[in-house]
Amino acid sequence: MGTQVAINMASIVLFGPPGAGKGTQAALIMSETGLPQVSTGDMLRAALAEGSALGLEAKKYMDAGLLVPDSVIIGLIEERVKEDDASEGVLFDGFPRTIAQAEALSQIEEVDAVISIEVPDEKIVDRICGRYSCADCGAVYHDTFNPSAEQGICDSCTSTQLKRRADDNEETVRSRLEAYHSQTAPLALWYDERGKLIVVDGDRDISEVGNDILSGMAGFGD
Ligand code: AP5
Repeated sequence: MGTQVAINMASIVLFGPPGAGKGTQAALIMSETGLPQVSTGDMLRAALAEGSALGLEAKKYMDAGLLVPDSVIIGLIEERVKEDDASEGVLFDGFPRTIAQAEALSQIEEVDAVISIEVPDEKIVDRICGRYSCADCGAVYHDTFNPSAEQGICDSCTSTQLKRRADDNEETVRSRLEAYHSQTAPLALWYDERGKLIVVDGDRDISEVGNDILSGMAGFGD
């Protein structure tokens, strides 16, 4: 865990390529700020698990490594931020992903800071293809870090329900990277021009990345 810092912020955006560590670092930021995590990827997977029409429609895009249409995503966010736990702000994870989504968000919610976690493409495929998570507590792991995986046990909650994501395969990851570079990466400049961007080198130990994020946020949260 990083140094405790006084962080008093409204909404925060976690931004970066697939596998950058957004979900991993979200746990730390939530514990430091008390903000609830709003992950559009998790919301789409939940909609699919429920068998809703929206989830089934989104699956076509997710399986192909393409972005789900802006209108669908913006509609989801408009509804989510009306919920009680979002009244003091939220931690957006994986949203916005296009300029159109960022423009829509600016009409819905004040964003204090955008944390961009940078990781080179060549590291991404290994990270994604080795990822698994706990179906019960949501903890995220990687094959090479967590020996308990071999025994099929979650380090955080001792559940044996460990799972891999349907879109975590090399072919889909390469499409997701293409979508990131063509449609999402331009958002970094968009937010930088608005004085909101915090850039963090994500190609280091998880704890080092977390410490840099907290230091960057401390400078924004006064
Ligand atoms: P989404 O679920 O958001 O996936 P993503 O952006 O591709 O990001 P990931 O969840 O794969 O990675 P992450 O950055 O959270 O990394 P993690 O911490 O898990 O989106 C899925 C799909 O939904 C999209 O392709 C799209 O179709 C759709 N979608 C979602 N939002 C959308 C939107 N706004 N607009 C349109 N479409 C949308 O870490 C990955 C692995 O690396 C783990 O194994 C972890 O243990 C490991 N790791 C983490 N940090 C480190 C480190 N520092 N060093 C080494 N390994 C590390």
